[in-house]
Amino acid sequence: MRTYEGVRANPRAVFDRYSAWQVNKDAYLEVRGLRPADVSEAAAQFIYLNKTAWNGLYRVNRSGQFNVPFGLPKSSNIVALDALTAAAALLKRATINHGDFEQTLSTAEPNDLVFVDPPYVTAHNDNGFVHYNETLFSWSDQERLARRCADLRENGVHVIVTNAAHASVRDLYAGFYVTEITRHSTLAGNPAKRRSVKELIFSTQRPREA
Ligand SMILES: C[S@@+](CC[C@H](N)C(=O)[O-])C[C@H]1O[C@@H](n2cnc3c(N)ncnc32)[C@H](O)[C@@H]1O
Repeated sequence: MRTYEGVRANPRAVFDRYSAWQVNKDAYLEVRGLRPADVSEAAAQFIYLNKTAWNGLYRVNRSGQFNVPFGLPKSSNIVALDALTAAAALLKRATINHGDFEQTLSTAEPNDLVFVDPPYVTAHNDNGFVHYNETLFSWSDQERLARRCADLRENGVHVIVTNAAHASVRDLYAGFYVTEITRHSTLAGNPAKRRSVKELIFSTQRPREA
């Protein structure tokens, strides 16, 4: 959220910060250890780490510190300035909330469209996200979210939800339309497992045939 706020406030300042950082292992470790002094630096650090960390992975240790190693990116370009200014223009029209989904979803009104992309259920095709999911978003959170989405549907709100393709998740969204998709995953720890993963898209509206 701080990254969105930093980009929205001053995309040029964010760009200038990360453009001054080299892309190599030593520079990476230095940037990773930075304690950002302001929102521009925080946004620059997050974007730089996202583009240079191993596989773009986000993972923290028990103390909440980002601990992904350097990732030898294919290119040392981080994000072009025009992409950042385009994002800033869009963000100026957005309201950014940071809080539990119950709080945000309570503002939805009939005919609004709500897109929900929660942390996926555990054992998401063995992609190594078990700890991330269990810590941040328990099964009871998944159930709580599904109940809230069903309430929204009852109130005439259009809802789209994504999650991993598991039978238990299908059960949570009984009554929603379901589309199963397959996409290439780049996030597996073991490259041999970096194959296609199945995901589910639940919706209150019948999806159009592709
Ligand atoms: C799969 S990611 C969403 C990624 C996002 N769609 C994007 O493209 O950047 C799931 C997000 O849910 C957030 N999250 C975890 N627990 C939450 C909660 N209780 N309420 C709202 N958001 C939560 C996580 O911080 C994470 O950013």
